[in-house]
Amino acid sequence: MSVAAAPSVVRPAAGLRGALELPGDKSIAHRALIIGALSGGPSSVTVRAPGGDVRSTAAGLRTLGVAVDEEAEGALIHYMIAGRPSRDATVDCGNSGTTMRLLAGALAGLPLRVTLDGDDSLRSRPMEALASLLRATGVEVTTSDGHAPITVVGRARLSPTAHQLPVASAQLLGAGMLAGLAASGETSVSSPGPTRDHTERLLAAAGVRVRREGAVTTVQGPARPAPLQVVVPGDESSAAPWLVAAALHADAEVTMTDVGLNPTRTSLLDALRRAGADVEMAVREVRSGEPVGDIRARGGGRLVPVTIAGTDAAALIDELPLLGVLMAATGGELRDAAQLRVKESDRIAAMVAGLDAIGASVEELPDGWRVTPGSPRDASIVTHGDHRVAIAFAIAALTGVAASVQLDDPECVAISYPTFWSDLAELAT
Ligand code: S3P
Repeated sequence: MSVAAAPSVVRPAAGLRGALELPGDKSIAHRALIIGALSGGPSSVTVRAPGGDVRSTAAGLRTLGVAVDEEAEGALIHYMIAGRPSRDATVDCGNSGTTMRLLAGALAGLPLRVTLDGDDSLRSRPMEALASLLRATGVEVTTSDGHAPITVVGRARLSPTAHQLPVASAQLLGAGMLAGLAASGETSVSSPGPTRDHTERLLAAAGVRVRREGAVTTVQGPARPAPLQVVVPGDESSAAPWLVAAALHADAEVTMTDVGLNPTRTSLLDALRRAGADVEMAVREVRSGEPVGDIRARGGGRLVPVTIAGTDAAALIDELPLLGVLMAATGGELRDAAQLRVKESDRIAAMVAGLDAIGASVEELPDGWRVTPGSPRDASIVTHGDHRVAIAFAIAALTGVAASVQLDDPECVAISYPTFWSDLAELAT
């Protein structure tokens, strides 16, 4: 795996050309590791260049007594999983909200006492909705004033429940489905908006009866998933920086192969097309229930202002910082994205500050922002250690939306995209 050092300053590239293989999809990887562990194994999960978050899940499972062996083959890491979580423990989830919420759901149905903790960013994120979802199944959950550390005292048999989520969140929905495996009967979770459906697809691939009907997702318990062999596709959210970069650049052609093309993850392509960009995708196969294929993006298109609102905001949740950069070039508005304030950082505040620093005129809204293009400036960006903020402003500089950018923590990209800087160096001509 080639991990180039981060440049101290990112500047515009003359062109962007090449083909990339991206890190494995972290949403799928977390779930495959956890479902593999619930199966008892033997399961295998192959992930290209896993980032810090996926490593937190693998390490967390080891802390819980699961055998998770790792073998490297170039950039590919093969995880071999055997055994179920069997130990009372304190698990360090690092920076990863998905690790904490999905593990909490999985642990609800196991007779263990486990404390889940994380770094300062994760300790600041809301965990009360998770706790009340799990308490409804009969499990004891304590939080630290609604935050991590949280302690889950699980039980081998849970009550079936019908739960209404307060926000559209795949992490919460996934936690509900994983807990539902231990319930005697149907557990259903209804969501106020669409979310990524990887938990359902992987559980179905492992032989579990699970279905999504409109806003309601239901799992039939008790059920133990069958062992899985998963080769995780590339992460659509790591394709996103290059899709936006190609759209913004006058001279760009970028291809990405073996990317996850689950329709709950491809809204960025629709948003970019609406903005006038030239992007194409083609599904080549379905693996473990997930469509996989290629994406190509070309530059030089005439772009128009973009508005993102309503259910699009939830569907594009991880791509919104990059769309903020696009809006700094085209103008545009984001609404209905208050959830962005409780991600790895307050991404509305972080993006508004950064977009202002690169020369755009920005108005901060409670649930988004309004952006008017300005004259690109040299900027120092405060990332708050947030990988998506760092990547967004690197793309701003690469495409000339900023004159240049210096990031305070360029290494934080490794949470989701450890090969980001080497991929950037490979594409830039
Ligand atoms: C994720 C769901 C999303 C997303 C996160 C990964 C997942 O969060 O932001 O990066 O894998 O389930 P929400 O649960 O808030 O939608």
